[in-house]
Amino acid sequence: MVYITQKNVYDCDVSDGNGIITKQTGDENFNHDMTNLKENNTYHGKRNGVVKRNGLKNGTKKNGGLKHDTNGKINNNNRDEPPKFQEEFQPTPLASAIITYIVYGILTMFGFFRDFLRRNMIEKNFAAVEAADMKDFVPLYASFESFYTRNVYGRICDCFNRPICSVPGTSIDIVERKTSNCGWFIEDTGNTHKNVINLGSYNYLGFAENNGVCAEEAVQTAKKYGVGVASTRQEVGNLDIHEKTEKEWAKFLDVEDCMIYGMGFATNSTNIPALVGKGCLILSDELNHASLVLGCRLSGANVKVFKHNNMQDLESRLRDAIAYGQPRTHRPWKKILIIVEGIYSMEGSIINLPGVLALKRKYKAYVFLDEAHSIGALGPSGRGVCEYFGIHPREVDVMMGTFTKSFGSCGGYIAGTKALVEHLRQRSHSGCYATSMSPIPCQQVLSSMNIIANTEEGKERIRKLRHNSTVFRQKLKDFGCIVYGNDDSPVVPMMIYQPSKLAAFSRGMLRRGIAVVVVGFPATPIVESRARFCLSAGLTDKQLAEALDAINDMCDSLKLRYAEKFIG
Ligand SMILES: Cc1ncc(COP(=O)(O)O)c(C=O)c1O
Repeated sequence: MVYITQKNVYDCDVSDGNGIITKQTGDENFNHDMTNLKENNTYHGKRNGVVKRNGLKNGTKKNGGLKHDTNGKINNNNRDEPPKFQEEFQPTPLASAIITYIVYGILTMFGFFRDFLRRNMIEKNFAAVEAADMKDFVPLYASFESFYTRNVYGRICDCFNRPICSVPGTSIDIVERKTSNCGWFIEDTGNTHKNVINLGSYNYLGFAENNGVCAEEAVQTAKKYGVGVASTRQEVGNLDIHEKTEKEWAKFLDVEDCMIYGMGFATNSTNIPALVGKGCLILSDELNHASLVLGCRLSGANVKVFKHNNMQDLESRLRDAIAYGQPRTHRPWKKILIIVEGIYSMEGSIINLPGVLALKRKYKAYVFLDEAHSIGALGPSGRGVCEYFGIHPREVDVMMGTFTKSFGSCGGYIAGTKALVEHLRQRSHSGCYATSMSPIPCQQVLSSMNIIANTEEGKERIRKLRHNSTVFRQKLKDFGCIVYGNDDSPVVPMMIYQPSKLAAFSRGMLRRGIAVVVVGFPATPIVESRARFCLSAGLTDKQLAEALDAINDMCDSLKLRYAEKFIG
């Protein structure tokens, strides 16, 4: 077993707009033509136990590049020195993988044993059980998930769904809970954990606030419009503030038009079916969000999944799609839609957008880009992953995103050409049949966007987010932890591996006054449980230092310094 750090290294290259890349920096082997993508999974040039993943080098220029001028338009003068861009996904150390499988094995054995006790009324069953008079029916609840919930999740469920009783800013108040029967019933004690440092919320730019300009303007809007809209956009729910938000947002992104929806999840799940259907092919990144997966399924299109951020795999699927067409008839696909995200929220990776767009152009496919996590958080002026790479949003066919992360609001949007948005106004289920977005979050979007686009404070928030993310990620590496993802991502996953350590980490951090999100199977592969930190521009240096001290402590007590070890 060789210890490998898998790094995706993107050198900084410039597209001439036709998909041809001219090299700025990089090694001799660099392939100038984006259309000629190299083997992506081949490891080249092992140095110091670190192995580069080479194929993703193609087709990238990272910004610095395109800048928004004072009118919010993008120009491509003024290119900064391109920074280094790399991603790491170190495989699970062998010993940690084995121990994790053993832990799950023991949990499963105990689970079967306790289910046996429950079936025979020796142990009381608190789980969702089939009613006695339904015994002749096919069981509604019995499944592996309920086995898992009863016997694994239940033991550590206090680490999830913790009730927050304050604004979800950089410090939060959390309701204290206790359980007397291993998590079956959790009760509030009536106390709160006060001023806990929040490393979990997607509050990238720190706009989750209950005071300041955004909050004040939201209160004024509530006084003017009330809270709910009580109708759809097509009936009497089309408020002037909706139209203003759409106009301003399209200007912010520098696209022709945009449509907003009350919920980000529904933006994906109901708009993908309005774009593709039977006879169409979707190529979906394997780590795409559940809302995208649901949208793909609802669309009725044929869905093929490609390896995460792997341009070689994507190209081979595109090539097959063109060569063989639809199954059985071999007719050409009506449309091919590639669906990717800007930042992947469990991996902290950033999509190789130049690579995706080069393939899109080469094979005449469409691209749907979900910017839920990247809009606001990436790019010198917060315009997302396009700006980060110096690509005009016009090159992406469907720009999707949410207001729920960087903008401290709720709802989602689809942006692009006028024709696209007009089509969705008529065809999108959530556009036609769902009650329109509340005016208060619309105002939050307008206020926070105005701060980002037009004020020094906005620029400072973007700079601070970048600073906090870089410092935090580097410190975790210095501690000897294994962290996943891109150096520029504000999402920092730190590998913990074993479910018992996962719970101990979450509880220990809360005792030290830090709230963290921990994620395990089935949301991650079985041997890749992790803590997922989301950095915020609002975190002060003191808060960051406190959080890092607590993590360092936990690394000692739980032995989390897995990096550079063959036996973890
Ligand atoms: C990539 C992605 N798309 C869509 C959504 C759904 O957005 P919302 O939470 O605003 O409904 C999320 C939620 O986290 C997400 O991560």
